[in-house]
Amino acid sequence: MKTTQEEKFIVKEGDAWFERNKPGQLKPITKEHNIIKGMISSNLPNAGSLIDLGGGVGSVAAGIMKFFPGWEATVLEPSRKAINAGKNAFPKINYNCGSLTKEADLPNKEFDLAIISMVFSWIDRSLLSRAISNIDNLIKPGGHIIIQDFYTPIPKANKYHYDEEMYTYKQDYSLPFKALNIYTEIYSKAEETDHTQFDENDLYDTWLVTSILLKDLKGRYT
Ligand SMILES: C[S@@+](CC[C@H](N)C(=O)[O-])C[C@H]1O[C@@H](n2cnc3c(N)ncnc32)[C@H](O)[C@@H]1O
Repeated sequence: MKTTQEEKFIVKEGDAWFERNKPGQLKPITKEHNIIKGMISSNLPNAGSLIDLGGGVGSVAAGIMKFFPGWEATVLEPSRKAINAGKNAFPKINYNCGSLTKEADLPNKEFDLAIISMVFSWIDRSLLSRAISNIDNLIKPGGHIIIQDFYTPIPKANKYHYDEEMYTYKQDYSLPFKALNIYTEIYSKAEETDHTQFDENDLYDTWLVTSILLKDLKGRYT
């Protein structure tokens, strides 16, 4: 039977991504990172509980805790190698090993903030709606979701550089949350970045977009 993209990530690609990117990952992100810039511009609270889904070693969570020490962070990540390195580098972070598409792998609590950075584009298409539902269930009313991923004006599936049977799915992942009419987008910034170029014919190949959504269960209805 064919291995799904999800199984590949859990068995091998999560560890492989960590090994390829290890040096850059073992330090907290800086104030110049899109996620910190977005949090500052949209006046997010200075304290609360956050979960970083597919958070790798924890560099995003560690950067947030450095600039806003009131935040407590949990990282959910399928790569054991990334988690073991993260526990050494960032001992204040709680780590859960697992997939955001599996409810049983997720903490049984609600958070003030969920971050999903460069992860949606890897999610197996057959599990995408589960990922969206699981993220919504993790967020308290009045809480926020920060999504960072590739920007593209039209949905695109690029063959993955390191495995020809895998795809990087580029599309606007804030849309399904906004379609529920229980999220208000309070920040969105698309820009060219120094991300590795894969398709020189695509003018937006190295663009990323960061969106911040506020969960509002009542205020959006008349
Ligand atoms: C490109 S890396 C991004 C890491 C980190 N979020 C960042 O922005 O630096 C993608 C991460 O998503 C994780 N990942 C892939 N599939 C996942 C899933 N189903 N559930 C949770 N994490 C997943 C990978 O193991 C990897 O750490």
